[in-house]
Amino acid sequence: MENHLIIEKKGPIGIIAIDRPSKLNALNKDVIDQLSTAFQDHFRDQNIRVIILTGAGEKAFVAGADIAEFSHFSPAQGAALAAEGQDKLFNLIEQGPKPVIAAINGYALGGGLELAMACHIRIASANAKMGLPEVSLGLIPGYGGTQRLPQLIGKGRANELIFTAQMIAAEKALDYGLVNQLVPLDQLMETAETLAAKIAQQSPTAINAAIAAINAGLDPAQNGYETEIEHFGACFGTPDFKEGTTAFLEKRKAQFKGA
Ligand code: COA
Repeated sequence: MENHLIIEKKGPIGIIAIDRPSKLNALNKDVIDQLSTAFQDHFRDQNIRVIILTGAGEKAFVAGADIAEFSHFSPAQGAALAAEGQDKLFNLIEQGPKPVIAAINGYALGGGLELAMACHIRIASANAKMGLPEVSLGLIPGYGGTQRLPQLIGKGRANELIFTAQMIAAEKALDYGLVNQLVPLDQLMETAETLAAKIAQQSPTAINAAIAAINAGLDPAQNGYETEIEHFGACFGTPDFKEGTTAFLEKRKAQFKGA
């Protein structure tokens, strides 16, 4: 199988770049499988506290699911594609134990925007363009886009973007709250790494609990407030809580070790 990822580990920061530039980093089965394996490896790696996901090259983060791969699919194959991808990659990232920052370096379309939306934080370069153009192909978004886009930008704006299949520029994405920050392309990775380094200094067990509580509030099957209480209580039993409070009282910087 051809390798489609460039992986670099810089201290507590893992950087995963999707490397299929001839197809604008489109997500085929191999790319999805390799990303799933890479994320699981980063989640297990005790030294890694934050992950940055980006696209290789200067043109695309990910220009979508690979249209050539699914163009002959039946309804059952289409449903399986969405279910498998959501489980293996998109939900894996969103519900994973470590924060993932999407560094959007160009086109983030269809499955590419869905991938960025499954990440916890998004930073875009000024040349980035985003959209969910699936209805132009006779499809709807299948990797969580109909759910996460309204969560991030509100239902009315999400309806408009999905129904018109339009791409929006990075400035509009910032205005909509779809991305947290907008920077020139040559500062994208530096900005993402600075943010990642700030997160990496905090308690990893507490951040893990925060991810679970925030996600619970957006899951109709869970009660977010109850989940928050549960995780808040559990934090009191962790070495990170002891270290964080002791460091504060001793007027020194906390050195968190995680679970
Ligand atoms: N799936 C498969 N291949 C894709 C792709 C995708 N989602 N997006 C781009 N590619 C391929 C193109 O087919 C082309 O391959 P080729 O050189 O072998 O013909 C290559 O990537 C370069 O793309 P190209 O269209 O020539 O670049 P461009 O700069 O003219 O246009 C886009 C860029 C992003 C506007 C255009 O590629 C596009 O519309 N892509 C599809 C976007 C989409 O609908 N995504 C949602 C999928 S669900």
